[in-house]
Amino acid sequence: MDATQVEDDLVEVLFTEKQIHDRLEELAQEITADYEGRDLLIVGILRGAAMVMVDLARALPRHLEMDWMAISSYGSGTKSSGVVRILKDLDTDISGRHVLIVDEIIDTGLTLSWLVNNLGTRNAASVEVCTLLRKPDALTMPVDPRYVGWDIPNEFVVGYGLDYRQQYRNLRDIATLAPHVYT
Ligand code: PRP
Repeated sequence: MDATQVEDDLVEVLFTEKQIHDRLEELAQEITADYEGRDLLIVGILRGAAMVMVDLARALPRHLEMDWMAISSYGSGTKSSGVVRILKDLDTDISGRHVLIVDEIIDTGLTLSWLVNNLGTRNAASVEVCTLLRKPDALTMPVDPRYVGWDIPNEFVVGYGLDYRQQYRNLRDIATLAPHVYT
């Protein structure tokens, strides 16, 4: 689905499919250089990271392994409850492995702050974070991603894996959602 097909629901396209793929190519070059000579396990955080995970993996001109986790960061009620749970754990033993967590957005930082700490207890050789988007103005928990696609304002964005009530994930671009959709 592209933006013209849901244009009444959107305020503005922030990043087109082409811009996203170009930025992922740049990140892939950085990652390739940084991990030269080391094995690499990339971990995608379901469900939103599905698109960035598969596109980043295919942009990396090297061997790697892929695994997935599913995290609930809502727990009982809202995100501000601060409750994080693992819904699906890794299938991989990460002891001694170089792990790169891949997500599509850091919002409050709750999910990735918790996850970096969690994976940090599993004797990995390294744990780093790659996120396509980050909202600096929304951050309340410390996360220090090594790779960031773009910093964006604290607005409701959808597309390229990002959802509103499970929809818009298949939008090819990333766009701000019109308030009439969610109010
Ligand atoms: C989104 C996103 C991040 C998290 C970021 O996932 O994929 O994992 O929220 O928000 P935070 O920094 O405030 O923790 P979400 O919980 O919406 O699930 P989803 O990936 O299934 O959309």
